[in-house]
Amino acid sequence: MEFNCFICPLCGEPLTDTGSSLRCAADHSFDKARQGYAHLLPVQQKHALLPGDDREMVAARRRFLEGGWYDPFCQKLCELSASALSEKENPLIADAGCGEGYYTAAVKDTLLKAGITPRICAFDISKFAVKAAAGQHKGIDFAVASSYAIPLPDACADLVLNIFSPMADREFARILKPGGTLIFAVPSARHLWGLKEILYEKPYENEEKEIEYPGFSEIDRVPVRARISLPAQAACDLFAMTPYAWKTGAAGRARLQALDQLETEIGFDFLVFRRENSPTGERSDTV
Ligand SMILES: C[S@@+](CC[C@H](N)C(=O)[O-])C[C@H]1O[C@@H](n2cnc3c(N)ncnc32)[C@H](O)[C@@H]1O
Ligand SMILES: [Zn+2]
Repeated sequence: MEFNCFICPLCGEPLTDTGSSLRCAADHSFDKARQGYAHLLPVQQKHALLPGDDREMVAARRRFLEGGWYDPFCQKLCELSASALSEKENPLIADAGCGEGYYTAAVKDTLLKAGITPRICAFDISKFAVKAAAGQHKGIDFAVASSYAIPLPDACADLVLNIFSPMADREFARILKPGGTLIFAVPSARHLWGLKEILYEKPYENEEKEIEYPGFSEIDRVPVRARISLPAQAACDLFAMTPYAWKTGAAGRARLQALDQLETEIGFDFLVFRRENSPTGERSDTV
């Protein structure tokens, strides 16, 4: 039986589901987890034993997102996705760096309500994230895979989502159909400013870059800004799910842990790109 939308990450052939493993015609073999997701990250594409977000970051992000603190972003992402796919009957969506699938599932539910039945392939380099995602969200094809060597065919996707994960523009250009849409979420200059004021003596604003990506034209830039007031547990979860958790000293951590409430600005920009009709890039084989 042919497996879901993912293909062999080594040769690009379809995968057959043998029950316990996935195999292509060239006899490359990959594990299929009990939760139904596929391990499509060959050892030569791994830059660490367990790459991507670790178990604690994944658990913290799941608790935080399920608290609804980022709902303004989630709603805007769902709106933008529905509008990008309004003319399509069975569009294919690829969610790159999908984490625990919080936004993936929200987009799927919004589309179904709008009468659009999507096929969704979501992947992340973190096994912990994909395991959590596949355990909770059904009706979505999940895989452990890298955005820099995506196990999907050329020109298969109507929409690629890249929500706060690495921008692999060549691969996104390759898998998108001409005219397809890429939605890329980036933090604003003052995203998490209140948190950074607690953690650091001298916080810096995030750098906002204007970058052109070959094969894409930017068609929209949608800012979402809000202020949130977080109870102590949610503030610690927010900290744990960000890269600040790796680079904050003991004094900053202690100041955060002493708080009853954290007030912070949050801000994201959704950059919306259209895939132009120019030739696609070639499949890459390094992460
Ligand atoms: C900030 S999280 C965002 C997760 C999810 N999109 C969300 O917003 O909830 C970034 C994610 O990118 C993943 N990631 C990092 N490098 C990656 C790569 N090369 N390919 C795919 N995913 C990657 C991490 O494991 C992590 O789950
Ligand atoms: Zn193969």
